[in-house]
Amino acid sequence: MAAVSSDLKHARVTEREVWRDGPPHELFKRMRAECPVHWTDKVTEYPQEKGYWSVTTAEDIHTVSRDWRTYSSERGGVTVLGVVFPLELVRAMFIGMDPPKHDRIKALFQAGFTPKRIADHEPAIRGIVADVLDRIDGHETCDLVTDVAQPVVSRVIGSFMGIPPEDDAVWANLMNSTLGAGDPDLNPEGIEGILERDIPEIFERVRAMIAQRRERPTDDLTSVLVHAEVDGQKLSEEEIVMGFFLLVAAGNDSTKATYCSGMRALMEHPDQRRLVLDDPSLVPGVVEESLRMYPAFAHFRRTATCDTELGGQRIREGEKVVMWYVSSNRDETRHQDPDRFDVTRNPEHQAFGAGGRHFCLGAALARLELRALFEQTLARFPAIEPAGTPAFVESVFINQLKTLPVRLRPSS
Ligand code: HEM
Repeated sequence: MAAVSSDLKHARVTEREVWRDGPPHELFKRMRAECPVHWTDKVTEYPQEKGYWSVTTAEDIHTVSRDWRTYSSERGGVTVLGVVFPLELVRAMFIGMDPPKHDRIKALFQAGFTPKRIADHEPAIRGIVADVLDRIDGHETCDLVTDVAQPVVSRVIGSFMGIPPEDDAVWANLMNSTLGAGDPDLNPEGIEGILERDIPEIFERVRAMIAQRRERPTDDLTSVLVHAEVDGQKLSEEEIVMGFFLLVAAGNDSTKATYCSGMRALMEHPDQRRLVLDDPSLVPGVVEESLRMYPAFAHFRRTATCDTELGGQRIREGEKVVMWYVSSNRDETRHQDPDRFDVTRNPEHQAFGAGGRHFCLGAALARLELRALFEQTLARFPAIEPAGTPAFVESVFINQLKTLPVRLRPSS
């Protein structure tokens, strides 16, 4: 391994400046080569935050992700900057729990994500995508984030959970401001607005839905959760509310992010787009390559429960350990020419996590939704092209465009 240059040694990986135009891929490339497990001692914007270890290779992330005894999700939360998401809130969701608590709740939630339930939802998902594309047909330009991705993901997760369509926009706003907490465009009021207004509103809405399902069971996921039973155990109301919040948040943001980044890549790589137009059976390849190159979550985090060693570095109990999926998915020991967008690659990637207890619960649903979105967008608008400059959400956690202006049917 090459010696670590002094500028890299002192690199502050999460600085806002570093992320303004999206993830700092060049920095991660140097880290993988020179110090794949890297220490940053300070966060300039949040002096109260402690330093953190950055884990950048696929192999080391795999190790961290599978060893929940050494690397806890519960002890310190799951994002590098604790100030953005209050720890009590994260710990109340199963994504922020360790076994055995985590396993019990996840098993109950899995009752709602069986392959059959997801396959049964396919016609509905295809119909939702078609309806949203109908709405923009005839327009010259649109924004793929707000006009296509957002209404599709809101309705898909909404129909899965049993949210009435007229509430989609309210939920989308609540989720965007909560998850985009650090971006003043998405959340002008900052963290106080989330805690004092958004979160209580979300909880109130979910509690009302739970009460209705208890009285009158339906066939949506909320009803499945209310009535789910594994080994004689059921979910408490608090567990359902927090899990519901987690699902809607995860279902809202991540699929939207992957679709928009993938569409942008197809527009910028006409050779790859041509391949898919000529052979639509390559659409699943577009999905996997988009997940690899543009993982919707740039990182997840753990906290060391004891002194340990990783990649030749001594990690001490209580220190933050950050798994940078934006880096491991471009690890050159796993992917040849990793910065090239190649729809025939069918890569193994870590966009849904690197295995272990917290592997994404919604992966099959997300893949189905993404296939429908890419397939139908390309079939309807094969010559779609960029019509302005896209902008990223300001975040080191969600790797997402907030605008992607396009021209739907270029005259040439
Ligand atoms: C492209 C879409 C998606 C991506 C890239 C994605 C990514 C991820 C990642 C990386 C994790 C692991 C977190 C960790 O290691 O701590 C995760 C967990 C999770 N995801 Fe997804 N996700 C996507 C879509 C969805 C959807 C559609 C849903 C639900 C409707 C969902 C629900 C969840 C849940 C509940 C967890 C927590 C699992 C646990 O803690 O056991 N995700 N997701």
